[in-house]
Amino acid sequence: MKTINIALIPGDGIGSEVVAEGVKVLQAIEAMDDSLSFSFTEFPWGCEYYLEHGKMMADDGIEKLKSFDAIYLGAVGYPGVPDHISLWDLLLRIRKEFDQYVNLRPVKLLNQSLTPLKSKTEEDIDFLVIRENSEGEYAGAGDWLFKGKPEEVVLQTGVFSRKGTERIIRYAYEEARRSKRTLTSISKGNALNYSMVFWDEVFEEVGKEYPDVETYSYLVDAASLYMVSDPGRFEVVVTSNLFGDIITDLGAGITGGLGLATGANVNPEKEFPSMFEPVHGSAPDIAGKGVANPLAAIWSVSQLLDFFGEEKWGAVVLETIKSIIGDTERLTPDLKGKASTAEVGDWFVELLKKK
Ligand code: NAD
Ligand code: IPM
Ligand code: MN
Repeated sequence: MKTINIALIPGDGIGSEVVAEGVKVLQAIEAMDDSLSFSFTEFPWGCEYYLEHGKMMADDGIEKLKSFDAIYLGAVGYPGVPDHISLWDLLLRIRKEFDQYVNLRPVKLLNQSLTPLKSKTEEDIDFLVIRENSEGEYAGAGDWLFKGKPEEVVLQTGVFSRKGTERIIRYAYEEARRSKRTLTSISKGNALNYSMVFWDEVFEEVGKEYPDVETYSYLVDAASLYMVSDPGRFEVVVTSNLFGDIITDLGAGITGGLGLATGANVNPEKEFPSMFEPVHGSAPDIAGKGVANPLAAIWSVSQLLDFFGEEKWGAVVLETIKSIIGDTERLTPDLKGKASTAEVGDWFVELLKKK
């Protein structure tokens, strides 16, 4: 029997609403597969915890999480606690402490009806964004000088190390080679005359070891246009932390919205737990109403299953997402349905059992 020990961090706003549905799906799989089981340990960390304890997670939180195989997270951040505190002390902290330097964010149209790009099909919109997840513009390096004075200056430094840049680019080449797809680097060397010039050089250098991989390199502004006008040109994409953040919300926009976008924060060496989470945030505008779409969080479950070598189940979960999307009655309002978060989860499990 294989047991996967999962730390649950439902977090803030709709985070807990959608994570509950992902857990339902894993429990249903456990009931159908004698060789697989999941154990769940929930941690109540997030903004409410902060308001009570003055910190986003327990002092030994990182130490506690270390012993798990994976972390399944909902969302972090809520009005009442400044975002730069809540995110830096929980979500970004976990990504950094566990060196989850690869962020895998599929941009995949699951049903033609979902894209606002009317002429585009499921074949046209199907690519994987590999976002650098440990440094770059998210290094947290900077300074705030002469605060409140007329000469006030604020610095936010992007940090691109040889190690950090090479390892993500190499990971992307490997993925392109493995899946026999083209690799596109998205950068901005024309304006960011240190970081992105270096990025482009490393992309070329590492590429010499992968003559079999066809490559493209676009500036991030043009790439954003192409994602809308001609998304078919992307297959595997590698990009920096901030650009990856922005273009994957754009990716969500062309594939059905944030209710349908997932991301895996992976430590490929498996030295530390990896973390699976939807791309979306805590959505304060709909939190507590029971209408959040749980499908992004359920897709994260599919990524988790793939990561642990349960690709068969990962594929079944993704297929089930496709099936349920075909039936508007069973969807939440963001996808033009009338169902609640929990109803989607219950129907999902019924469909899954028939797969
Ligand atoms: P958001 O992703 O929470 O919401 C953006 C829009 O998308 C909102 O209109 C929301 O209602 C909608 N939306 C998001 N997820 C949805 C779902 N599952 N179903 C239906 N609609 C959905 O982004 P925001 O409003 O900019 O941020 C809110 C808070 O979340 C902030 O504190 C932000 O820092 C944080 N945040 C956290 C994460 C994370 O934990 N990974 C990601 C993004 C934002
Ligand atoms: C994401 C989020 C985070 C990021 C925020 C909440 C810090 O937007 O996971 O996409 O920028 O990485
Ligand atoms: Mn984001």
